[in-house]
Amino acid sequence: MDREMQLILDNFINNKDANDSELAMLIETDLDIDSELTIVLREKADKIRQSIYGKDVYIRGLIEFTNYCKNNCYYCGIRCGNVKVNRYRLTKEEILECCREGYELGFRTFVLQGGEDMYYTDDIICDIVSSIRTLYTDVAITLSIGEKSKESYESYYKAGANRYLLRHETATDEHYRRLHPKELAFETRKKCLYNLKEIGYQVGAGFMVGSPYQTTENLVADLRFLQELQPDMIGIGPFIPHNETPFADAKQGGLELTLRMLSILRIMFPYALLPSTTALGTIHPSGRELGLKAGANVVMPNLSPVGVRKLYELYENKICTGDEAAECKICLEKRVENAGYKIVTDRGDVKKEYK
Ligand code: 5AD
Ligand code: FES
Repeated sequence: MDREMQLILDNFINNKDANDSELAMLIETDLDIDSELTIVLREKADKIRQSIYGKDVYIRGLIEFTNYCKNNCYYCGIRCGNVKVNRYRLTKEEILECCREGYELGFRTFVLQGGEDMYYTDDIICDIVSSIRTLYTDVAITLSIGEKSKESYESYYKAGANRYLLRHETATDEHYRRLHPKELAFETRKKCLYNLKEIGYQVGAGFMVGSPYQTTENLVADLRFLQELQPDMIGIGPFIPHNETPFADAKQGGLELTLRMLSILRIMFPYALLPSTTALGTIHPSGRELGLKAGANVVMPNLSPVGVRKLYELYENKICTGDEAAECKICLEKRVENAGYKIVTDRGDVKKEYK
């Protein structure tokens, strides 16, 4: 490492401070897994993570309850323009069955994720949420169902939802427009995230690493946006091309860059809940283990019925689509242990006073 880089690194690690061009250097320099820079950042990230969360890894039970979507995002496999997808919707009873099984396995957070599917009106969502809430008083209910009005978000919250995941995808307007059709804008996404915060949700934002046209400057802008938003969770994973999308031939996001971003995020956001994502596990056999070592502290295995797993294909070759929830839990427990951490039965709330 040259002297300039060493000074930038020391300042970042000791004072959590860097200007935009320094951040860009921290993001893109010497990305290999065993470079000196990678190791220093990873060890610092792990130290911070352990000082706050110990060796605990939180699990979230992901229930992908609909793959219908009214949007046509260029990167996503379940975009409405993909006519080759077999579409499915889970009934309330099927969703509750996933929760029952998940609860028994030790899950204390359920994440209901789906495309933006207008079949599920606010009343239906509220009914599902309040049914889960009545059955399980000690779980966190997370929704991840896209952009809605503030009134809708308020109604879900009143019904018993506590958290909401809505990745911002990219905080640069121009880049946002290159990933989405013209109906979708970063401004709207941002407004939704602030509305969610105002209502009192624990909020998760995040972005894809290595999405088409992404520059290092875009990643710096993502970090700055996150500093402004101060979300409780930050979900990042590599972009993975899907054949039936306009980005079929685009390059996949890198393992090393994703790991680097995780370490930088842990250092800049010590308290954040950082998932080691399924996308990371998809591009490398030990992707999720490496993610945990780089600073992540959450994993989100799938609780959806095996029969529909393959159909929720945001990207190709998604892992864990053939495994029962119980198998996934055992497999993940081993993986997490091999990485030097342990899965806990806990809601896994963020360890800071919610602002
Ligand atoms: N590769 C990686 N991640 C993707 N997502 C959607 N499509 C892809 C893809 N092709 C991510 C988006 C979305 C989250 C649910 O999945 O960031 O917010
Ligand atoms: Fe699902 Fe390993 S985590 S099979």
